[in-house]
Amino acid sequence: MQISGHLELSRRHLLIVGAASLAASSVATRASPAATNPTTPTGAPVMTRVSLDVNGETHQLELDTRTTLLDALREHLHLTGTKKGCDHGQCGACTVIVDGRRINSCLTLAVMHQGDEITTIEGLGSPEHLHPMQAAFVKHDGYQCGYCTPGQICSAVGVLDEIRAGIPSHVTGDLNAPMRLSNAELRERMSGNICRCGAYSNIAEAIAEVAGRSA
Ligand code: FES
Ligand code: FES
Repeated sequence: MQISGHLELSRRHLLIVGAASLAASSVATRASPAATNPTTPTGAPVMTRVSLDVNGETHQLELDTRTTLLDALREHLHLTGTKKGCDHGQCGACTVIVDGRRINSCLTLAVMHQGDEITTIEGLGSPEHLHPMQAAFVKHDGYQCGYCTPGQICSAVGVLDEIRAGIPSHVTGDLNAPMRLSNAELRERMSGNICRCGAYSNIAEAIAEVAGRSA
């Protein structure tokens, strides 16, 4: 009995001590910012002033240096036409035009674009005065849900500008005639823009019309 009672006491003692030390280690973990965010020991954002030229207007912003261009456009300038799909450079929904080149705005920091000329879907045209690419997407039903559409249109405008500038694709470098754009080349150049609705044929027709040929 005595041995059994002693063993029982020891087991309970161990359980209580074990639970107490687990709780203590949990509190210590929660209390330590370094444990929750090892890359930012203090957890404090580093803020900076940024001047962004978007759609012909200059905006002064106070931003966390880690803010992507996409979040600066959407969350700070409320230009929500540019969409966030994957936020990892895989879908093209966030495509905007910077200094004449199309880029994924989720993959670049806003602070890197001070002084750059940024064009979003809102800057291409307005409901009353659509950009020819916007009008062609409407004419050819180049969308279903529309979520990918701003990125598709910005990318399509960029594609035609790249061809005019003589920037070769992976498919062909034969760009002597600016609008000699085969369907295969068009699809290759637009391959960074994913459409979950599968409106690719209509998108290709819209771009081909603006390019001046049949799809
Ligand atoms: Fe930028 Fe998908 S949101 S590529
Ligand atoms: Fe729906 Fe392209 S129209 S994702």
